[in-house]
Amino acid sequence: MGGRSQIGITLLGLGVVGGGVARALLEKAESYSRRVGVPLVLRRILVRDPSRERSVQVDRSLITTDAEEALDADADIVVEVIGGEHPAREYIERALKQGRYVVTANKEVMAKHGPELLAEAGRAGVDILYEASVGGGIPIISPLKRDLSANEITSLRAIINGTTNYILTRMSAEEISFNVALRQAQDLGYAEPHPANDVEGHDAAYKLAILASLAFHTRVRPEDIYREGITRLEPRDFRYAAELGYAIKLLAIARRDPPPADAIQVRVHPALIAADELLAKVDGVLNAVQVEGDLIGRVLFQGAGAGPLPTTSAIMADVLDAARSIAQGSRPSPWRYTAAVAVKPMAELVSRYYLRVEVTDRPGVLAGIARCFGDNQVSIASVIQKETDEAAQTAEIVIMTHAAREAAVQAGIQQIESLEEVRHVGNVLRVED
Ligand code: HSE
Repeated sequence: MGGRSQIGITLLGLGVVGGGVARALLEKAESYSRRVGVPLVLRRILVRDPSRERSVQVDRSLITTDAEEALDADADIVVEVIGGEHPAREYIERALKQGRYVVTANKEVMAKHGPELLAEAGRAGVDILYEASVGGGIPIISPLKRDLSANEITSLRAIINGTTNYILTRMSAEEISFNVALRQAQDLGYAEPHPANDVEGHDAAYKLAILASLAFHTRVRPEDIYREGITRLEPRDFRYAAELGYAIKLLAIARRDPPPADAIQVRVHPALIAADELLAKVDGVLNAVQVEGDLIGRVLFQGAGAGPLPTTSAIMADVLDAARSIAQGSRPSPWRYTAAVAVKPMAELVSRYYLRVEVTDRPGVLAGIARCFGDNQVSIASVIQKETDEAAQTAEIVIMTHAAREAAVQAGIQQIESLEEVRHVGNVLRVED
């Protein structure tokens, strides 16, 4: 047992998630102690505002606003649930340098600085664990690090932002605009007052950087990821997609092209996905990650992607893991990146596309659009004319292409936009087959 009589824990942050962690540590102390072999003891809790009402009653002498005091407390494990890049990153780095295990839910820090922090942990003979950084309570970091590690992962497709999944589900079910669905999400506390981080896809991109780095054993940075948010979607896109047999989801996709190409695609964008696929049925705030490996085939992880209890579930699993290592005196082996794999430029992506165009309803318009695509070697699979407004002489055309290169489709769309009869290219969406 390495001679330990207790495992000391410092908690950085006592917000919604921190409160859940403190409550679990206090209320489940006995069973955790049995599982680890020695008691887990809260030593310090760092807060910004000590006068704030908390959802959990903690001994006030544990609370401090002094980061130095919290970090220098006699703790074996530091749990970081402050969020955001700074000062969380500096606190984590300092805790690792001091030889403490770190458990964090911080996707931004892990996406941007994960490799450096893991290397720091390795030098200090400890580990940094981050199961809660992606998918809330869904186990996905640990399966990628351990259970699926004998596979060559070929693809990972995920719904990893609950806020946007809730908004898209409402837009689809109720035919309401993005703004109305966003307000509903804000009223329910799912979306933040400043929702850009979620609706523009940044949050999903951080999480995808973490998952893709693990899946492909290489460093994927957030800036490597092509990113598009959901703000341009309109209720009619959901209606047309449904008529064609698809749902629309904000997908985070990582895929490895086999040798000789040997490059990875990493992208976050709204996509059409066949309505009978499992991912298409993941609705509301739920998250899901589908992984495909050469040995396992396809496996789907689904569940609550946020919220204090699911996030506490993931954090406490990491805490118990670290505590057992400490109690047993075993030396951890932090995750290592083994290969540098090139990221494929978005222009080289090959996909089918959905395109919605508003045109002046006059002979020859369709032929003009077809020519623009034909000039760029993009083949049209189907065309449906929608919503003709005879008085205004306008029509809406929904086009599905065959598989084509992104660069060719974008060049075709530029040409289409310059046609006199084209009033507006409403939306362009990739089809995830
Ligand atoms: N804002 C995130 C989401 C939850 O909507 O999924 C925290 O990762």
